Amino acid sequence: MENRDRFVIAIDGPAASGKSTVAAEVADQLDALLFDTGAIYRALTLVALGRGVSPDDEAQLAELIDIVDISVSSPSVADRRTYDVYIDGEDVTWTIRDPAVDKAVSRISAHEKVRQGLLELQRKIGSSGQVIMPGRDVGTVVMPDADLKIWLDASIDERARRRQAELAQRDIVITLDEVRKEMRERDNYDSGRALAPMEPAEDAVVIDTDGRSIEDIVAQIVQLATLIPAIADEEGSTAS
Ligand code: DC
Repeated sequence: MENRDRFVIAIDGPAASGKSTVAAEVADQLDALLFDTGAIYRALTLVALGRGVSPDDEAQLAELIDIVDISVSSPSVADRRTYDVYIDGEDVTWTIRDPAVDKAVSRISAHEKVRQGLLELQRKIGSSGQVIMPGRDVGTVVMPDADLKIWLDASIDERARRRQAELAQRDIVITLDEVRKEMRERDNYDSGRALAPMEPAEDAVVIDTDGRSIEDIVAQIVQLATLIPAIADEEGSTAS
């Protein structure tokens, strides 16, 4: 891996558009690092909730970034996770997906100081090697020179069904109406914020995932990735 050229693939899109699952599979197939940028916004949100910091208190949230150690690494437990997330050494991989975090994360992510505070870490990891980065603004702001930019989308109904099923797997019961409402609110926050709003980069390949299988979408992205010079070169050298 150290000898291979660097590349980064941005996979952006709204909540439950399939980004995380698709990105994990693409990373696996391309033997690349998976770095889910949403995980660090979620981790910061969990810290804020735990410490009673208001989602509207920009200054205190920015301070938390300086004093708390958030890290994302390869999965260490075989419980369907695709990466580990730690806050000061504590495994929070699943708790950052709780509905309470869903509810507050967009408000917290909209602050300029929060986005600025988390940008450097994202860029550092994004340029560290061969990286697949799911998020909201990876193609537009975090890694605007990404080798390939994908925008994944799906209808609100399909996305709500997916999120409900995901939560049900963890024994969290929530009605479809509630999920849909929470998702609409989050979409509005994420795409309505002044800074780095959620939107496809001009040069992104837009993929509508409604009714398509994960395998199918992954195959399309892996195919597009063969056009990235670092990957094309490698394929050429292994074929010869
Ligand atoms: O992808 P996700 O649902 O785990 O993301 C959680 C929240 O984090 C999302 O609602 C907005 C924020 N986020 C962001 O603002 N920018 C990113 N690149 C990734 C996530």
